[in-house]
Amino acid sequence: MLAAALAATHAAAFTQSRPWSAREMADLLADHYTHLTGGPEAFALVREVAGEAELLTIATHPDHQRQGHARRLMQEWMTKATNNGATEAFLEVAEDNAAARALYSDCGFGLVGIRKAYYPRSKAAAADALLMKRLFP
Ligand SMILES: CC(C)(COP(=O)(O)OP(=O)(O)OC[C@H]1O[C@@H](n2cnc3c(N)ncnc32)[C@H](O)[C@@H]1OP(=O)(O)O)[C@@H](O)C(=O)NCCC(=O)NCCS
Repeated sequence: MLAAALAATHAAAFTQSRPWSAREMADLLADHYTHLTGGPEAFALVREVAGEAELLTIATHPDHQRQGHARRLMQEWMTKATNNGATEAFLEVAEDNAAARALYSDCGFGLVGIRKAYYPRSKAAAADALLMKRLFP
């Protein structure tokens, strides 16, 4: 049930890319290395392995955007990761995703690499993926 609710929010929020299915969400929730922060209205999924935390996805349902949910989730998952021993975090974001890029920059992530034409777009050329990273103190 939780997996289906997360998949519904993911599908509503991600209008430019393939939504993740309830089955994919369930597999991630069952994965020992992956942690959920938040719930159906707004959530982040983070994988922690060997001191590195990777933000797999973050989404706020369109009905609840611009209310500070994602900013709070970012702080929560980074605190959890630090407490679990992570020393650095990374993520990927589409070059044309201005909202997420602003959020990540505000949260201390900096550009470390680019994957050219990584995200397919139905009505435009594929967007580059920006690889961003931050160190935990
Ligand atoms: C990106 C996303 C998670 C932000 O969620 P949110 O809960 O609305 O974000 P917040 O209200 O916490 O906003 C935090 C900051 O993000 C940035 N931001 C959020 N939405 C924005 C928008 N529409 N335009 C520009 N900046 C935006 C701003 O810097 C904002 O700070 P501010 O409100 O002080 O200006 C949400 O827009 C979303 O789900 N998008 C679709 C999924 C997605 O792109 N996920 C990231 C994939 S890498």
